[in-house]
Amino acid sequence: MLERAHLAGLLAFGLFLGLFEGPAEIACGFSLLTFFLTRRLHGATFSAIELGLLVWPISGSFGAPGREHALVLDRRSRYRRVPVTNPAPPSPSGTDGPLEVPLVDLAELWADDRVELDRRILEIIDRAAFVGGPSVQGFERAFAEYLGVSDCVGVASGTDALELALRSCGLAPEAEVLVPAFTFVATVEAVRLAGARPRLVDVSAETGLIDLEDAEAALTERTRAIVPVHLYGQMAPMPRLMALAKHRGLRLIEDAAQAHGARQGGAGAGSVGDLAAFSFYPTKNLGGIGDGGAIVTRDLELAARARLLANHGRTEDGTHALSGRNSRLDALQAVALALRLQRLDTENELRRHAARRYAELLGDLGGLGLPAVMEPSAHVFHLYVVRTEARDALAAHLRRHRIGHAVHYRSPIHLMPAHRDLGYEEGAFPRAEQLAREVLALPMHPRIRPEQQEHVASIIRAFWGAGT
Ligand SMILES: Cc1ncc(COP(=O)(O)O)c(C=O)c1O
Repeated sequence: MLERAHLAGLLAFGLFLGLFEGPAEIACGFSLLTFFLTRRLHGATFSAIELGLLVWPISGSFGAPGREHALVLDRRSRYRRVPVTNPAPPSPSGTDGPLEVPLVDLAELWADDRVELDRRILEIIDRAAFVGGPSVQGFERAFAEYLGVSDCVGVASGTDALELALRSCGLAPEAEVLVPAFTFVATVEAVRLAGARPRLVDVSAETGLIDLEDAEAALTERTRAIVPVHLYGQMAPMPRLMALAKHRGLRLIEDAAQAHGARQGGAGAGSVGDLAAFSFYPTKNLGGIGDGGAIVTRDLELAARARLLANHGRTEDGTHALSGRNSRLDALQAVALALRLQRLDTENELRRHAARRYAELLGDLGGLGLPAVMEPSAHVFHLYVVRTEARDALAAHLRRHRIGHAVHYRSPIHLMPAHRDLGYEEGAFPRAEQLAREVLALPMHPRIRPEQQEHVASIIRAFWGAGT
């Protein structure tokens, strides 16, 4: 009864459904199609409802608006479409239930790239090039080009990037490295992992960035390097640090884990020191879909050494020239990061815009210190960190109102149990200690909406009994 063309169409339709849909959709699609084709052969015309029924199983394959789908491999190695649900991120502030305003919203950040990300991930699975390969090389080139440096070495995390950058410099075991006393603990861990000794330096009371005078005072015969941290998205005072490093023959290694795209007098974070380390932890301004990091430099010799160290010291001919380790960026991170890199400047601009909005909403509150910004167009607000002596009470107030917040960092390095052995007493770095008592990060990400910021501001103003 059915003509050959109809049978071919039916077969193609079945294959299409078989590839992308489940058994229920296949059965339903087949019976509907057979029914309509038979009726069509008998000269019947279709009503709108019937046409709608015919189109339904197909439209399901493309995903209805607002209902995102992803392709996943099932146990029989077939691609299956599954609806994407964005589970609420774990509450960073320990509240039960979803936050009214999250500190960061990773699902929002990926929303526009979701389909393309799925496609690129499937491509990697098809190619089975999971570690290294063209995706990683492509991202390394793109990031080096973005920063204007000669080379970029993708590694497994920001901590590894710092450690391997330091090891590339060939520091002797007794070498001292200057590090700010107020930073994420990884900066200091990396120095220790590289076999050197961290020598802590107090920070500016306003910005939290390494203090120049204190850095000079901390120099000894054994000092070999300085690791300034571009805290919260603002660059440390690089020109003066460079002059100091040059004068004393020291290596300068930027901890740029929080400063992708930040600038200072036209120079980009990561492009100034001998080497720089980036983290691609998912919440960073340039964040992946897991852990990742990179070492960047203008010095091709240092880059080559870092690349060897990150891959068991293995040279192209397969010999092991150095005692290295395994710290490689994987291809899944590379494709995700290449996507996000295209949005970095726009997203940093959105962060600056959100920071200006907070300043308008909160600037008149006497008890609250807003971030000290040295060059407004250059800060990338990885975090929006305010200060108040009433920090813990304000944090409890925000938690009660389900507003995301976090403390970066509750303890300066020298008072952490892990690093007490460095031998510093309480009071050694008073500005770092004060910051640790006062800092509080408010919700900040490129997609934060004006009404969310207004809500955060009204809750904070209520804490001080101030109107909106
Ligand atoms: C200043 C700083 N340095 C280093 C790191 C370490 O990066 P990762 O977590 O990727 O190891 C971080 C990460 O949060 C950081 O903020």
